[in-house]
Amino acid sequence: MTGRTNEDSRTLPAPTGDNLQAQETTYRFGAVEVDLDVPEGVWNPTPHGLHLRDVLATDLRFDDQHVLELGTGCGLHAVVLANRGAKALTLTEIDDETVELARHNVERHDVDIPVDYEVADWTSVDGGPYDALVTNPPFAKSGKQYRRYFIDTLILDTHKLVRPGGTLTFVQSSMADVPRSIGLMKECGMDVRAVAVTDGPFREYYFDDEEFLREAAEVPGGYAVRSGTYYEQLTVLQGTLPS
Ligand SMILES: C[S@@+](CC[C@H](N)C(=O)[O-])C[C@H]1O[C@@H](n2cnc3c(N)ncnc32)[C@H](O)[C@@H]1O
Repeated sequence: MTGRTNEDSRTLPAPTGDNLQAQETTYRFGAVEVDLDVPEGVWNPTPHGLHLRDVLATDLRFDDQHVLELGTGCGLHAVVLANRGAKALTLTEIDDETVELARHNVERHDVDIPVDYEVADWTSVDGGPYDALVTNPPFAKSGKQYRRYFIDTLILDTHKLVRPGGTLTFVQSSMADVPRSIGLMKECGMDVRAVAVTDGPFREYYFDDEEFLREAAEVPGGYAVRSGTYYEQLTVLQGTLPS
């Protein structure tokens, strides 16, 4: 992996258990400055989204690619992707309000490529096939009995959204069982690589969900405790579909 020169600054009100508190974020990479409004009710970038952002900004390029981002949230990755060679973006979110927030944040920056905004329920997206799919899928707060629902459907449905030879790039916690995702991606015929791995301390809200902690304890290598602090690993995986 290449060295990091990116900088963050954030105004941080007390985090709420649902990670939906209002926040402003400024992020610089190279000559690009990204200022984001995240009003109450929209998912704040967590270490997962920030790790994906750093990897997109530093390790990967999307030259001349039409990139689909599922669950774009505040639009952070969209601004980065536009600066990493993408020729067009399609951004989805679950409701109009969040889509409009992404539009507001993207339009505040010098994004001079076509951007489509779609309300879509996860992989139920119109259009495509796209050259690349990028996402930070819901996991800890997926709201599903089967917590990996969004990860597994993402992997299984990639071939419907992405052209042969195109890529799927996403970030995942060790608590969601990275080897399991790699195995499923390979079963779907993808060539898989772990682009970058980092460590992050648990989010406070993890401790509010006993079932989540019980499930994570069953995952081999799901987390580590060092000097009394709990850490998960965050991995950006990239799968390339067969041509
Ligand atoms: C983990 S957050 C990531 C947000 C943003 N990309 C980031 O990294 O900060 C997952 C996003 O998926 C959206 N989402 C949740 N369920 C969805 C669904 N069924 N269809 C589409 N998006 C969904 C949420 O609103 C949320 O913004």
